[in-house]
Amino acid sequence: MKVVVLGAAGGIGQALSLLLKTQLPAGSELALYDVAPVVPGVAVDLSHIPTDVKVTGHGKDELETALSGATIVLIPAGVPRKPGMDRSDLFNINAGIVRNLVDAIADTCPSACIGIITNPVNTTVAIAAEALKAKGVYDKNKLFGVTTLDVIRSETFVAELKGLNAANVHVPVIGGHSGTTILPLLSQVEGVSFSDEEVASLTHRIQNAGTEVVEAKAGGGSATLSMGQAAARFCLSLVAAIKGDNVVEYTYVQVDDSADAAFFAHPVRLGPNGVEEILPYGELSEYEQKAKDDMLDGLRKDIQLGVDFVNA
Ligand code: NAI
Repeated sequence: MKVVVLGAAGGIGQALSLLLKTQLPAGSELALYDVAPVVPGVAVDLSHIPTDVKVTGHGKDELETALSGATIVLIPAGVPRKPGMDRSDLFNINAGIVRNLVDAIADTCPSACIGIITNPVNTTVAIAAEALKAKGVYDKNKLFGVTTLDVIRSETFVAELKGLNAANVHVPVIGGHSGTTILPLLSQVEGVSFSDEEVASLTHRIQNAGTEVVEAKAGGGSATLSMGQAAARFCLSLVAAIKGDNVVEYTYVQVDDSADAAFFAHPVRLGPNGVEEILPYGELSEYEQKAKDDMLDGLRKDIQLGVDFVNA
């Protein structure tokens, strides 16, 4: 099992790489790539942690070596938000970064599973799909937008509000990964009920949780530690599934014949080849149905922007 992190020297990249160094199965390989010159040092630093996971560091001319033989590639490369920005403001810089990195994946390890973390995820996943199609190697079952942070935030906030142990709270989150496209299904949280006011305020908090962090960091970036944890959870679920475990995660994937949008976060059964089965997200409350209807146009436009970026 070889896991590659592209953008490994960044805030998310370093937190994620630390968690993977300590939690990947024994015998795995972890390759760290970044254009920042500190990346070999990050790899040396991690290599002093005594686990049976081999860490290698690769600078800007070593993308191919980093990617060679990859099973899973995670992409947190790119710029994060500053106060006053929303995720779509990152498009101009991050679109090209994701395109170039995915082109290299297509050339070097076309059968790897790819997890896109770089924002705006609604659009960068579509860019990755189109880039892979242009190279003739697109497999929709192996491309994921990592929306796990929305899930772990929802679990935390529900547990806080209701005085529960967050480890026992499970909250489905569907849709996309920005603003109102993030749709937590609070009506489906088992054993917990919410007043209408609680649903409205919790939904708003979950949708704006990223901005909560951006403002608290006051210009120093966006979520990195909680995102590192979220991406590690997603990656380790994929690793377990590749090894044969039965695992379901909410993730943003291509959905055929969907009345929603071409890409949409669903519960997904993972397996040795990535997506094993896209599961239905079940019945929505009236509030959730309206929230979904209201956000679909925006999500479809975000996706189209990615398609046009590659095909223009
Ligand atoms: P950061 O600035 O700390 O790190 C980004 C890293 O990417 C830097 O080390 C930089 O050198 C590297 N990089 C830039 N261009 C590159 C290239 N062409 N190849 C390889 N590496 C390259 O940023 P941070 O906080 O780690 O965020 C990274 C991305 O993740 C941002 O786009 C951010 O918006 C996104 N994000 C996504 C979340 C999600 O839920 N999916 C949550 C939080 C952030």
